[in-house]
Amino acid sequence: MRTAIYPGSFDPVTLGHMDIIKRSANLFDEIIVGVLNNSAKNALFSVNERVSMIKELTKDMPNVRVDSFDGLLVDYCKKQNANIIIRGLRAVTDFEYEIQIAQTNKVEYPDIETVFLTTDLRYSYLSSTIVREFASYGGDITRFVPESVIPLVEAKYKA
Ligand code: PNS
Repeated sequence: MRTAIYPGSFDPVTLGHMDIIKRSANLFDEIIVGVLNNSAKNALFSVNERVSMIKELTKDMPNVRVDSFDGLLVDYCKKQNANIIIRGLRAVTDFEYEIQIAQTNKVEYPDIETVFLTTDLRYSYLSSTIVREFASYGGDITRFVPESVIPLVEAKYKA
């Protein structure tokens, strides 16, 4: 049984994230989408909101589970008996940060393997930060996030 963790902030989940979730679900037996509970970060959505958003979006994917975690990712991986981490790579700008994290995680947990999936070209410009920025100025985020997420993001900025 190959369990892989797809960790992230998902604040909010984007179409790019959803594409990675779907593609990893075809590659591994079980995917755990791990939402980082980072209280230091000024998040738009609470961790519970993010988890329930992704649960709803993945309800028809039988091998995808959604959970949250605190602290080090490698500790969470060990707890879940998972030795695969999935990350999406958009452009070369992601690479420096990602390789540093992957190598640090490997030093801490030598059995861990980080698998990078290249982001679909349609989403290569996309990030949660861009979605928040765009929405904060009243921009149309239809092409950035799943349909069910649009009103949730808009409501945050109307509030
Ligand atoms: O979606 P993000 O914000 O790019 O995801 C980053 C994430 C959650 C993968 C990373 O910040 C993380 O793993 N945080 C937990 C703490 C940790 O283990 N850091 C890596 C070793 S320095």
